[in-house]
Amino acid sequence: MEKFDIRDPRLAEGGRRRIEWAEREMPVLRLIRERFARQRPLAGVRIAACLHVTTETANLMHTLHLGGADVVLTASNPLSTQDDVAASLVTHFEIPVFAIKGEDNRTYYQHIRAALEHRPHLTMDDGADLVSTLHKERRDLLSNVIGGTEETTTGVIRLRAMAADGALGYPIIAVNDAMTKHFFDNRYGTGQSTIDGIVRATNILLAGKNFVIAGYGWCGKGLAMRARGMGANVIVTEVDPLPALEAVMDGFRVMPMNEAAKIGDIFVTVTGDINVIDRQHFEVMKDGAILANSGHFNVEINIPALEAMARSKRLIRPFVEEYEMPDGRRLHLLGEGRLINLAAAEGHPASVMDMSFANQALSLEYLVHHAHEMEKKVFSVPEEIDRQIARLKLEAMGIQIDTLTPEQIAYLNSWEEGT
Ligand SMILES: NC(=O)c1ccc[n+]([C@@H]2O[C@H](COP(=O)([O-])OP(=O)(O)OC[C@H]3O[C@@H](n4cnc5c(N)ncnc54)[C@H](O)[C@@H]3O)[C@@H](O)[C@H]2O)c1
Repeated sequence: MEKFDIRDPRLAEGGRRRIEWAEREMPVLRLIRERFARQRPLAGVRIAACLHVTTETANLMHTLHLGGADVVLTASNPLSTQDDVAASLVTHFEIPVFAIKGEDNRTYYQHIRAALEHRPHLTMDDGADLVSTLHKERRDLLSNVIGGTEETTTGVIRLRAMAADGALGYPIIAVNDAMTKHFFDNRYGTGQSTIDGIVRATNILLAGKNFVIAGYGWCGKGLAMRARGMGANVIVTEVDPLPALEAVMDGFRVMPMNEAAKIGDIFVTVTGDINVIDRQHFEVMKDGAILANSGHFNVEINIPALEAMARSKRLIRPFVEEYEMPDGRRLHLLGEGRLINLAAAEGHPASVMDMSFANQALSLEYLVHHAHEMEKKVFSVPEEIDRQIARLKLEAMGIQIDTLTPEQIAYLNSWEEGT
């Protein structure tokens, strides 16, 4: 087995500078790293991480390495890898990486298998591909594994389904469920970086465009807020009456996709669901419509149907595929329907990943101490970790808040005081 598999080690220097740049916006992770370097809480622990290979992830890997862990990194999406970062991790940080931007599905899974050869005690996942490969193909390794973490909504859903079936072999902490993760990463991170990906790929003006967002969850809310800020007319589609109502009250138009499909200029799916934009929608879309996905898997837009319907396709710009329909309309698919913020831009800004990855690092430390007493289920990040991260982030931003007085504590804890 190769020791690593990356695009080109000569990209390392540029990667190192960008990793350094991200580090400046990651003060909470920096504090954790300084403590980890002193205390080495992960000494002797082997970790296999399946995460987007970005500058922020590099800072997390470095933190774990300094904490004593023996880490290997593989990509959690074939298109999200930053090749210069992979090169720098291997060259400057002695962290083996198996990831090449644009790798095909076969190579993607070969890389996951290579990371599993590391015989991990802890797994880190973003979408649960590593955990599911481990459970399907390498059950011989399960007895070594004490626990794991999961970064994203889609992965947490998959792992909860495994736990419900009694199929999960070890406890997992759902980093996504931490408030300091999804309040910020999914909302502000995905919101901003999805716009960034669309603009970098297309250079279109958003002002005045009908911008259709499928899914008004954490990511959808952030995206809607930012698209409106750019002057777009935001339309939301939903299947759940609660977020649909929230979108209405937030001032957005809400309608079924069948209606939105006729008037949208730009469509973005962020649902975690399948075939949200389908054949009947392609049939009625306007000439020039742009389609992108920012949900975890590339199944939210029915690409096989689009391929089957189109009479031709061509790559018109990097990350922009133009499909010509039999009636001459042209539909544009961005980034092969993969997470557009990572495919065409750089993923979330470091400042939000600071909190997500602080949760990752502290959850791993927690697992080292507590995994043996945890059931084989999916757990939330312990509340004390969540609050500690929020406190540290505020401190790093130079923002102070009030403290409850003894009188207020007594008042809030009593049931006797009333009108
Ligand atoms: N691009 C990124 O960097 C990034 C970051 C975080 C999460 N994600 C991914 O984005 C997806 C959404 O995450 P989230 O945290 O917003 O999840 P969420 O559960 O908060 O929201 C998803 C929303 O989509 C709605 N939905 C489901 N099926 C639908 C359909 N057919 N039509 C319209 N709406 C539908 C649900 O009702 C829900 O309100 C997940 O796949 C997650 O893993 C991506």
